[in-house]
Amino acid sequence: MVKRTRVKDLLATTEFNREVTVMGWVRTFRNSQFIAINDGSSINNIQAVVDFNNTDEALLKRITTGASVSVTGNLVESVGKGQRVEIKVTRLEILGDSDAEKFPLQPKKHSLEFLREIAHLRFRTNTFNAVFKVRHALAFAVHQFFNDKGFVYMHTPIITASDAEGAGEMFRVSTFDPDNIPRNEDGTINYKEDFFGKATNLTVSGQLEGELAAMAFGDVYTFGPTFRAENSNTTRHLAEFWMIEPEMAFYDLDGNMDLAEELLKYVISYALEHCADELEFLKNRLLEEEKSKPQTDRSDLDLLAKLNFCLENNFERLTYTEAIQILKNSKPNQKKQFKYLIDNWGADLQSEHERYLVEKHFKKPVILTNYPADIKAFYMRQNDPDENGRRTVRAMDILFPGIGEIVGGSQREERLEKLEQRMNEMDIPTHEMSWYLDTRRFGSAPHAGFGLGFERLVLFVTGMTNIRDVIPFPRTPKNAEF
Ligand code: 4AD
Ligand code: MG
Repeated sequence: MVKRTRVKDLLATTEFNREVTVMGWVRTFRNSQFIAINDGSSINNIQAVVDFNNTDEALLKRITTGASVSVTGNLVESVGKGQRVEIKVTRLEILGDSDAEKFPLQPKKHSLEFLREIAHLRFRTNTFNAVFKVRHALAFAVHQFFNDKGFVYMHTPIITASDAEGAGEMFRVSTFDPDNIPRNEDGTINYKEDFFGKATNLTVSGQLEGELAAMAFGDVYTFGPTFRAENSNTTRHLAEFWMIEPEMAFYDLDGNMDLAEELLKYVISYALEHCADELEFLKNRLLEEEKSKPQTDRSDLDLLAKLNFCLENNFERLTYTEAIQILKNSKPNQKKQFKYLIDNWGADLQSEHERYLVEKHFKKPVILTNYPADIKAFYMRQNDPDENGRRTVRAMDILFPGIGEIVGGSQREERLEKLEQRMNEMDIPTHEMSWYLDTRRFGSAPHAGFGLGFERLVLFVTGMTNIRDVIPFPRTPKNAEF
């Protein structure tokens, strides 16, 4: 194939009057003359000018929105408004036709809901070009951050036999014929006959295996897909999402919080630096979207200002107990505007409470610590009961404006007896998790870690409002299209 030059490079070049070849997809074709070509390398198109008097009529007809083309011609400075360079076409080839009547993407604004239904084509819009470029940059920045700090990237298993969060929200993995499942004499399922010889599921978190590795390498992280069969049809939940989970030996909760805050600031500033065009576009997209909302529902800061604000301010750190006090006395609680009213210590925080703390009370990211043991997972380090006998654990959740919980983590219970006792209380089979408990039997060490939901991070940085729009092919209840 002829060597092509990327549109992004041509838009930035100062070397004119040379022959170039561009391959891409037609966005628009005006006046039988001006083709706007996008090849994905930039959110901006390049203009190719066709000499329509000397071009075959039949060929001109095939330059339709969505068609794939190869154009060769002289690169010149543009006299027209809106672009700096253009190509005077000398050779044009249609690589793939696109029937303008049938192509679902027209050169006009489409709703995000509509684009979700054609997720296989939505990559070809400016919005999704920008979103997935930012997603890429953030993923790259995550690896950069940990690599620079000497963390080891561990690939934890996707198929497991354990429920890391103990919440029972797992997708089963089996090769049984659903119409003919082997059973024991007492009617229970005979998993010995299944592929792995035991009941298995898709992982909800790589943390437990991460802990095993941290007890040898010191600092590790995983970054992989995780799966939750929770029936939450919200703008913040996916059944398949990606999670970043560092795990560090010789860390306490403070060190854990410091690392999480540093990571978030690093990846946000990386995106600001490397995705300036995309974020500028997404800022304007959001401003446009918010025009249709009532004033009270609009953001105080535009997207770029919000991201910069996040970099420049320390996250507010407070305990769950302090947060409950604030929520109890808050206006929406007193006026019974919360759907779930806060009256007791021990209540689980709903997203309305988290968002009140972040968006209304502190107006900045918040880290809540030391949650009641009863609303958190078994592996978290237990604090001594307070003077009222309340049991808390060394948990930390980071709450972000517009998102709610973006990070969940904790210092881990490294004391074997305490851990076993808690697992027994919560009906978690200790004999099946003997491998996990071995880390506490042989050279146990204080350690901590957290999980950052990657799509929630991408949501925050792109200013998109539905998590289905920041992962290429979202999996949600009753939806596994594509
Ligand atoms: O709070 P979670 O459940 O914590 C864990 O899984 C721990 N094992 C992490 C650790 O300590 N290593 O999940 C962590 C984060 C949440 O804060 C949220 O950002 C994201 O993962 N998350 C989801 N994102 C999208 N869809 C869902 N259904 C999510 N559930 C959790
Ligand atoms: Mg959580």
